Amino acid sequence: MSHHVTRPVHSGILVLDYGSQYTLLIARRLRELGIYAEVIDGTSKEPPADFTAHAIILSGGPDSVYEVGSRRLPPWVLAAGKPVLGICYGMQLLVEGFGGALRSGEGREYGRGQLKLEAQIPGPGAAMFAGTPASQTVWMSHGDDVAKMPADLAVAGRSDDGVVAAVVHRTLPIIGLQFHPEVNHSEFGADMLSHFVRKVAKADLNWDSGSMLQATLNYIRESVKDGHVLVACSGGVDSTVAAALLAKALGPERVTAVFCDQGLMRKDEVSWVSNALKKLGLSHVEVLDSRHTFLSALAGVTDPETKRKLIGRLFIEEFERYATGHKAEFSHLGQGTLYPDVIESAGHGAGAKVIKSHHNVGGLPERLKLKLCEPLRYLFKDEARQLGFQLGLPADMVDRHPFPGPGLAVRILGDITEERLHILREADAIFIQALREHDLYDKVWQAFAVLLPVKSVGVMGDNRTYQMTIALRAVTSTDAMTAGVGDLPMSFLTHVAAAIVKKVDGVNRVVYDITTKPPATIEWE
Ligand code: XMP
Repeated sequence: MSHHVTRPVHSGILVLDYGSQYTLLIARRLRELGIYAEVIDGTSKEPPADFTAHAIILSGGPDSVYEVGSRRLPPWVLAAGKPVLGICYGMQLLVEGFGGALRSGEGREYGRGQLKLEAQIPGPGAAMFAGTPASQTVWMSHGDDVAKMPADLAVAGRSDDGVVAAVVHRTLPIIGLQFHPEVNHSEFGADMLSHFVRKVAKADLNWDSGSMLQATLNYIRESVKDGHVLVACSGGVDSTVAAALLAKALGPERVTAVFCDQGLMRKDEVSWVSNALKKLGLSHVEVLDSRHTFLSALAGVTDPETKRKLIGRLFIEEFERYATGHKAEFSHLGQGTLYPDVIESAGHGAGAKVIKSHHNVGGLPERLKLKLCEPLRYLFKDEARQLGFQLGLPADMVDRHPFPGPGLAVRILGDITEERLHILREADAIFIQALREHDLYDKVWQAFAVLLPVKSVGVMGDNRTYQMTIALRAVTSTDAMTAGVGDLPMSFLTHVAAAIVKKVDGVNRVVYDITTKPPATIEWE
């Protein structure tokens, strides 16, 4: 796929990725501070030609500097003469780069730790710590530690066990932190990053929702020129915001939103989404009625992976059928791809991760010979949400919980039938509405009902019942990689259970899923 997309702004902080699970979080934190940050492969042979880095941050990573094949610091980093902050493995690269030595294993620290700052910290790096307490909680996650300090660097802080936890260059704006300032558990981490940007790098802030919107609109206009865009909408936040941006940048006449109703959406979702798209000023909104195609293909399919693959393939086929019929009208295919997907699929982290992509349109752009336009490809989800608000999207659209591409199919365990879809839709709607009414919707990251292939005995009035079971799931999370159990009040849960059993025919029992991810996943299939 060709992704030669001009970046939204041409200066900011460059984050070099060495495979840490926190690399993207570093970039997000910087942007929250108001400076544009971009992630590139930590072993890149040269810096991006069209980007002015005010400072460079080296991420953590799973390697050991002495390991064969470990990721190395490219020579241009220190030669550039810019302020540098090395975090965790990034600090170890700096220590080694200046001639110090590391050792494996002895100073291993994981989780919360205590940072004790030195009374005197030399050099311009000292500004990073100014105003933070001499003893503070930090988040550690490292196996190696410093065995020998290089002459140019000084220890700025140690952990309780005496392990070197922070270093500064004696004369240059170069700093290394063994802990993770980007993680919320580091008490003064956000302050330190802010000091680094403003006091050490003295960088101009250039990233707020106004500049973000302008940059995104410019990007769309420059890349689409006088073309027309076909945008695949799922009803989720990302594709809706992308469609809204396209309409604003190009005018509603040059954007067609296509929404595929596969029969697996939630109660009233199809009309709600198509109305929301029309309200955005999109004059061309096509709802493909693909219910029969999907539901007949899914009849009798119970294996989760088979369901997912089938739905992914049908979705592409349906979309392709529409696009082929209207191909002459379009130059570009619009998608709501976000920055984390771009970085993860670039795979310069600890090994390329497989991203969930089947509600994206896969290899379609090549087959249809359409160019790709991805207005959000440099943005994080919270930034896409901010743009959504700025464009006037309704709050209940912008704040929506995520919903999986395969829809309710992965929330009906076993056979998918119209009857079972109806039961799940009703139960889910009761749960979600109750969450909203009790001000709990925004307290959890995602919530939904699942229909189990389990019948059990109950009693209603004087009658014995033998009916189906609904599981309620509500999780807390930041990125879906891990999830906690939503701490919903028991009185609320029993209220929802009573409402579901009373109003939804065929259900006599409701359970609450209290498993974290891992070991479970968020969805049941
Ligand atoms: P799991 O079940 O893997 O889900 O813990 C993590 C998050 O991803 C969502 N999800 C999907 N999203 N296409 C999507 O766009 C999919 O196939 C898909 N499967 C899971 C899920 O709802 C949760 O937010």
